[in-house]
Amino acid sequence: MSTDELRRQILELVERHASEAQSAPAFRPGIGAIPAAGKVIGGSEIRHLVDAALDGWLTTGRFNDEFERLIAQRIGVQQALSTNSGSSANLLALSALTSPLLGERALQPGDEVITAAAGFPTTINPILQNGLAPVFVDSELPGYNPTPQAIAAAIGPRTRAIILAHALGNPFEAAALREIADRHGMWLIEDCCDAFGSLLHGRSVGTFGHIGTLSFYPAHHITTGEGGAVFTDLPLLARALASFRDWGRDCYCAPGKDDTCGKRFDWQLGDLPRGYDHKYTYAHAGYNLKMTDMQAALGVAQLARLDEFIAVRQRNFAHLKARLKTCEEFLILPEATPGSDPSWFGFLLTLRENVPCDRVDLLRYLDQHRIGTRLLFAGNVTRQPYMQGRRFRISGDLATANAITERSFWIGVHPGLSTEMLDYAADKIGAFLGVGF
Ligand SMILES: Cc1ncc(COP(=O)(O)O)c(C=O)c1O
Repeated sequence: MSTDELRRQILELVERHASEAQSAPAFRPGIGAIPAAGKVIGGSEIRHLVDAALDGWLTTGRFNDEFERLIAQRIGVQQALSTNSGSSANLLALSALTSPLLGERALQPGDEVITAAAGFPTTINPILQNGLAPVFVDSELPGYNPTPQAIAAAIGPRTRAIILAHALGNPFEAAALREIADRHGMWLIEDCCDAFGSLLHGRSVGTFGHIGTLSFYPAHHITTGEGGAVFTDLPLLARALASFRDWGRDCYCAPGKDDTCGKRFDWQLGDLPRGYDHKYTYAHAGYNLKMTDMQAALGVAQLARLDEFIAVRQRNFAHLKARLKTCEEFLILPEATPGSDPSWFGFLLTLRENVPCDRVDLLRYLDQHRIGTRLLFAGNVTRQPYMQGRRFRISGDLATANAITERSFWIGVHPGLSTEMLDYAADKIGAFLGVGF
């Protein structure tokens, strides 16, 4: 049998096995888990994964080329680079802004970067990791994002950039923020890790800022196991991002390729001797944050299902909102930003201030009924242990970030959840609060 035929048969069997093995058992209320987040993968994903493995190439290769091209096309930007996580994508985004390639616009140590106090830590950590100073602003309920007014009020003489995440899929007012950024000569990074497919004024989030990022961890809209992407329209930023991702190298050859620039032994850079191999010439203090071709192959198959996943997330969100309307006396229900069409990551709820019950008791009760819950990640990050003793600035107060820390939580809307599961979750929340449906 030819190796091509053998491969064809292997892939067919793999797909058949995966399709049968992945089918979910029937939901049993109170016994079956209702996770807050989860992946949906089937035959085509595992087929792609094995196809890439059979190539034996392992590092970024043909599947990664396709994945990066498809992500850029989907978002509507010039260039996307895959990474090994969303956290790495954020680290690259901030690091790229320090590149000497940007001349006077490069961020310098001690420059300030505005961000939301309430959110995920690795939206914020790259500010610290690059020797920059975070400026924290408060968020607003029921959208969970900071307002453009709060951002504008936080700008000081050394403020040079903004990095914000679209809270659990709900777009922040990115168009207004880009205007503010442009007016003050600042950079805008959109952390779209929880918002792949969200639209604002009919435009993909991530296209308003200078750089956008995505995560493909299994909880996210599509998954590659671990993984992420960073994308931009600006060629200079794309070059800086690629260099920081790929060891800091000046060379931009794809893995396994040589002499793309046609001058491999013809450069004189730094204090190196003329003709020093460009492959080993470094423009930045870089990392290696690439993904493997198996991950990218999985991503290609998942990307083909993104619209289907988004539609289910939106349907699940609408269903929960309708079901929980009767709890509004006790709970603040989430609202989409005006002019947006969110690709929801989860269903955020906040106990109203005057409700005489403890969030921990509610979360324990839901846990006992196998209903998964999550907090809005770090809450007010300035209250986290690792922030103690660090230098940062707070603009205004963080009253809402504190409320989020103390009274908010979210439940799942991911495509692995059935209407029966959502109804059970809503029933139990209502039962805890003493609300009948
Ligand atoms: C807003 C946000 N940014 C960044 C990340 C980090 O992504 P990853 O887990 O892929 O590192 C997450 C993770 O869930 C996130 O929610």
